Amino acid sequence: MSTVTFQMNDKTIQAEKGTTLLKAARENGITIPSMCNSDKVKPYGACRLCMVEVTKGKRTRIVASCVYEAEEGIVVRTDTEEVRKIRRMIIELLWPTVTGLAKEYGVESSRFHPKTVDCNLCGLCVRYCTEVRKLDAVFFKGRGLDRELCILPELAKECSFCKECHSLCSGGWIVHQAGQTF
Ligand code: FES
Repeated sequence: MSTVTFQMNDKTIQAEKGTTLLKAARENGITIPSMCNSDKVKPYGACRLCMVEVTKGKRTRIVASCVYEAEEGIVVRTDTEEVRKIRRMIIELLWPTVTGLAKEYGVESSRFHPKTVDCNLCGLCVRYCTEVRKLDAVFFKGRGLDRELCILPELAKECSFCKECHSLCSGGWIVHQAGQTF
């Protein structure tokens, strides 16, 4: 198996070719926030929380670390001002949904910090159901601000045997919705 050597913050890292920057970071004790990534499904690159700065030769750019594969000689910075600015913007985008619901339901703090209280549309359950279970029992409906997650009641029996998506859901929405659907 061939390997690549590169720099991440102050560490020199060696990783198998094909390893994503997010995986390499985790294996080396470097924290990069992520929401739509799980080892159980293929990388998706949806939430953009895992953005990092990559310098290759003279070129520096911001990439999603969950889909970008480690390359020989690159320099990766996981916590620059630019990276933090992007993460702050993503958190801002999520804020109205989360705080709006928190107000409506009288939630002032979370016992499950730092998890969210609602579906954050990360798509982990949808991808797991499609890629691994090949069922499509959980799916997205609508686009943009109208996008929502749905469960097919017709597949209740298969779902009650599986429930693998429950452990992937950071906000607990899927558990709540499954309870209402079946
Ligand atoms: S974890 Fe990389 S885009 Fe969501």
